[in-house]
Amino acid sequence: MNSGTKIESLVTTTQKVEHDWTRISDYSQLVEEEIQEYSNIEVTDNLREGGIHAQNAWRFWFEYLSERVWKTSLAEEIMAFCDDIVDPRILSLGCGYGGIELDIAKSLKSTYQITAVDLNPGILDKARAEAQAKNLNIQFLPLDLNFLQIKEKSFDLIIAHASLHHILNLEHVFSQIHMGLKDHGRLIVQDIIGKTQVLFWKQNVDFAIDLVHKMPPKYGAGIELPPYSEPAIQIGMEGIRQEEIEPLLNDYFVPTKMFKYGSFMRMVCTHPDLGKRFDPGIEADKRYLQSLFDLDVQQVEEGRLRATEMLAVYEKKDSVNVTAINTAARARIDAFLASGEVAQSVLSQDKALLAEVSAGSLADVSDEIKRLRFALTERDRTIADLKRIIDKTFASRSWRITAPIRRVSSLLRKVLN
Ligand SMILES: C[S@@+](CC[C@H](N)C(=O)[O-])C[C@H]1O[C@@H](n2cnc3c(N)ncnc32)[C@H](O)[C@@H]1O
Repeated sequence: MNSGTKIESLVTTTQKVEHDWTRISDYSQLVEEEIQEYSNIEVTDNLREGGIHAQNAWRFWFEYLSERVWKTSLAEEIMAFCDDIVDPRILSLGCGYGGIELDIAKSLKSTYQITAVDLNPGILDKARAEAQAKNLNIQFLPLDLNFLQIKEKSFDLIIAHASLHHILNLEHVFSQIHMGLKDHGRLIVQDIIGKTQVLFWKQNVDFAIDLVHKMPPKYGAGIELPPYSEPAIQIGMEGIRQEEIEPLLNDYFVPTKMFKYGSFMRMVCTHPDLGKRFDPGIEADKRYLQSLFDLDVQQVEEGRLRATEMLAVYEKKDSVNVTAINTAARARIDAFLASGEVAQSVLSQDKALLAEVSAGSLADVSDEIKRLRFALTERDRTIADLKRIIDKTFASRSWRITAPIRRVSSLLRKVLN
């Protein structure tokens, strides 16, 4: 139901970010890749992620979790909370094509006000048109969450569905959510919290590979899951700091509900070939799938495999230890910079060389370019070697190391062009 009131602008952006991780990555390149990625995905008629994410087995996994394990769901948690609030104000972070927000608006019984934001302006158009056509009170705004600013105590509910794992400035975003929620407010998160960049730890991948080999031929024949690979160069912002989401959330919020799930089912259900071999409408497939679901839940419960996703409802902590958060954030950034020391110094050399070139006469420039090309080719090789060594050595935190190297590579590419 539309409240009929004009939505106030309660969210905007700020450059005042205490710990700005975007400065120590090739951020414009990441943004470009991120926008390109989500502009080109398959989308369902109800404006949700399509393709492998719309496969029946994947949908059935969430039905199973909701009905048999959690006894709730994202939508139920949102509705249950909003039912008790008069004229709820809701903010959705990283709304994508907006299908979830449209569904929430259609299900709410009272008046409400929804603000939905996403980095990618081009993907909001269809949802905006539908909201207008159906007279829903939703404002879809293009906005970079890494620089989010929320008006103090302005929202009853903030939702982040599958978006936090794309965020670099987690500390900033969480402090803004904490400030932007009313005292009774809730933050509801459903997201990926697996291994940074690659999602699955080696143990999980090895388990899934073995499982597929043991499947009846009807399902497993000819299917080879890709082996585990170490995190490499960060493309876009997929999984960029995902391992840190949950521990950092705990600095600002207290979970009132927390479900961690998914140690390998994603590899089965969203596999482009394997996932399609399961039809939950067929009794035998349904029973076999359920046995796999039971196995996944058991692996997580018994601590054999780590969960890669979570659904959680949070309330605000009464007091946040800002000093401790700032000290920890500074230490993390320093550790990142220290680990990228070699690459950073290469970057400074590049800058010095470029300054020399621009200061010299035109006649000198051509020789200088030849010399640079040679030097840069050598350096590219060195960087590739460095990257291999660093990736191998610091696998679990590799995006922090690869980010400055990417920056150098990008600078080199610009010079060579
Ligand atoms: C996996 S999609 C999830 C979309 C939607 N919430 C859903 O569940 O269908 C991740 C979304 O995060 C958005 N995103 C990534 N980085 C962002 C940022 N810095 N600020 C705002 N949105 C961002 C992407 O554009 C993309 O739409």
